[in-house]
Amino acid sequence: MPLHVVILAAGQGSRMRSRLPKVLHPVGGRPMLHHVMSTARALGAEAIHTVIGHGAEAVRDATPGEATFWVHQAEQLGTGHAVAQALPNLPDDARVLVLYGDVPLTSRETLAHLADQISDRSMALLTVTMADPDGYGRILRNERGEVTAIVEQKDATEEQRAITEVNTGILGLSARHLKDWLPALSSNNAQGEYYLTDVIAMAVTQDVRVRVAQPDTVYEVQGVNNRQQLAVLERWYQQNEAARLMQEGATLADPARVDVRGHVRVGWDVSIDVNAVFEGEVTIEDGVRIGPDCVIRDSILRKGAVIEAHSIVEGSDVGPSASVGPFARVRPGTRLATRSKVGNFVETKKSEVGEGSKINHLSYVGDAVLGRDVNVGAGTITCNYDGVNKHRTVLGDGVFVGSNTALVAPVTVADRATIGAGSTITRDIESQELAVARGRQRNIANWQRPTNPSDQE
Ligand code: UD1
Ligand code: CA
Repeated sequence: MPLHVVILAAGQGSRMRSRLPKVLHPVGGRPMLHHVMSTARALGAEAIHTVIGHGAEAVRDATPGEATFWVHQAEQLGTGHAVAQALPNLPDDARVLVLYGDVPLTSRETLAHLADQISDRSMALLTVTMADPDGYGRILRNERGEVTAIVEQKDATEEQRAITEVNTGILGLSARHLKDWLPALSSNNAQGEYYLTDVIAMAVTQDVRVRVAQPDTVYEVQGVNNRQQLAVLERWYQQNEAARLMQEGATLADPARVDVRGHVRVGWDVSIDVNAVFEGEVTIEDGVRIGPDCVIRDSILRKGAVIEAHSIVEGSDVGPSASVGPFARVRPGTRLATRSKVGNFVETKKSEVGEGSKINHLSYVGDAVLGRDVNVGAGTITCNYDGVNKHRTVLGDGVFVGSNTALVAPVTVADRATIGAGSTITRDIESQELAVARGRQRNIANWQRPTNPSDQE
């Protein structure tokens, strides 16, 4: 039986107090809905059907390239009504798993186990036991311990409210059963809604076995209704990411002070100091060391690279044993070759820095290509922008750039040329030449300093 996943995401989420639809609020840098979709895909679902209503357009726009069928639920008449909107798209022979856009962190294993319980003769229900079950649907069992129904808190008796086993909302059943049962739901209940949960009692009357599973932890089935709950899930997610990084070979100065907002892969003997933030796709090879308070986004840090404290690396390739920072900003399109160095208060952008080359202090290098063993003195600036276009600066192998040089691009400095400090370079320089382009110094003898009349008696 092929697996189809229906994700409910039509509700408003008014307790978030947000213009952003609830399911787009991020956990680990990705919208909650995308977590659910990734998990559904990892389950090998043949198709994903996402039911949207409130903020439908925003949800669709924020989900590019996600292979899902969008199902519109114009009015939110209950979870049963929501699933019913997807019915026409579900093949009769399918197993159907119902997930929620605001329950982002259910594990693939938990759901795979649940989906395995679905057959022509049985359905599957994910429940959890909670010390404080307030607000949840309660699981009713008979004297033999078999599940007989779910009763919503608002419809429950005092006695039923004492039950601590609750409905997570996640369930699975055959499309045939859904098609039989959903049209038979009634909204005759305390909330006037079509409850998906009423299918449990229908299954029981038709001798369809209700198989129950529980997740490993309650976080897996925790939904998000407000920003406090969002923060709790974010921390749990980050705790798991930190554990994974350590398992893969990273030493974390403090596992509670690392944030992964995207996908990070680490090699062996990586060392990460406190307050690292990783965003997007980040690869960190063996032996990399990252100092405190660094942000690394969409980049690769190759073997033995070092990122010193307070540095930001984005969209860049930091080569083997290259060194960055402290206080460096490495912007997109930077490629640092082996053992090259970008030091403190240096900004780079769309530039290649050749093997062993150094930009040690207080510089801006943009749209530049540096050969091997180039030395860029403190305060050097590539003037790459004329107000309209960007131009390239090329520095050959072994070029020495004196401090406080302005390189007015486009400009090419050939191999082993030298530039005197304080130069404004506007013309190309040939190999081995020395270029000095600054006002000549004049020394005036016996210079009388101006005097202040009030100093005189
Ligand atoms: C539901 C369950 C309850 C369970 C709880 C777990 C029902 C009737 N009750 O209650 O047993 O303990 O979840 O959190 O199913 N949604 C739609 N369209 C709708 C209604 C809801 O897309 O018409 C979506 C919402 O966006 C939300 C989810 O379904 O993400 C759950 O709906 P909600 O109304 O919050 O159900 P609960 O009252 O929490
Ligand atoms: Ca809810």
